[in-house]
Amino acid sequence: MNNFKGKNVIVTGAARGIGRIIALTFAEYGANVAFTDINDAHFAALEQELSAFGVQAKGYVSNAADFENSHDTVAQILKDFGSVEVLINNAGITKDNLLMRMSEQDWDAVIAVNLKSVFNLTKAVLRPMMKARQGVIINMSSVVGIGGNAGQANYAASKAGIIGFTKSVAKELGSRNIRCNAIAPGFIATEMTGKLPEDVVKEWQAKIPLKRAGTPQDVANACLYLASDLSSYITGQVMTVDGGMTV
Ligand code: NAI
Repeated sequence: MNNFKGKNVIVTGAARGIGRIIALTFAEYGANVAFTDINDAHFAALEQELSAFGVQAKGYVSNAADFENSHDTVAQILKDFGSVEVLINNAGITKDNLLMRMSEQDWDAVIAVNLKSVFNLTKAVLRPMMKARQGVIINMSSVVGIGGNAGQANYAASKAGIIGFTKSVAKELGSRNIRCNAIAPGFIATEMTGKLPEDVVKEWQAKIPLKRAGTPQDVANACLYLASDLSSYITGQVMTVDGGMTV
């Protein structure tokens, strides 16, 4: 599956940032793309950009944190596209604060959007993937899910949870020819990280051996590899994409 022609890919949280570039990259390599986001800002423009690659493309307003909504969305995608070969669980949020000041709401929201969403969507594609005896699931974790980060206890816990989930799914579904891997991006320049103060950004960058922030394309390229047959013997892994930051 190095050319994705005729393959159907779902990308969650793709209205902007890393998800958007993942969607465009798969379309460039011939995949049909069903993308979701919590709101439909930029949907029309993205659908148009994706279709320009000559593939089928459609956006779905969907709350990945909501179990029923996620199942309804996948059911609709299956109706529209016929099958799903690749699921990329990308949707995520931050609600950073020191633990002393972190509210229960901010804990619950981050766990729901970042971690429960991965369960919701993976469960929704499971049956069709098992029936087809093939499938690839890629979950967006983070380097802070491996190493932790002060001020991000909720986010780091959600991203660490994704890693445990990924390894379990790999073990449970390997016999069905379903692979499941996680990507742990480091510091990637998007609107999410655009919220950070300049001195924090500079401090992060100084620690990166490749001396630059990552781009959404760097992460999308890793997704492409993990979705393709080039990685057909790789499952249950966490691929760090961080310019060497955590080495
Ligand atoms: P972003 O904030 O630019 O984009 C996230 C997208 O997810 C947005 O379009 C947002 O509307 C959507 N979204 C939020 N809640 C949703 C929900 N309940 N249902 C569906 N969609 C929802 O973030 P970015 O930077 O593109 O991050 C993408 C993923 O990569 C996230 O999971 C993030 O945690 C992860 N990541 C990002 C890093 C970075 O440095 N930017 C580093 C490590 C991981």
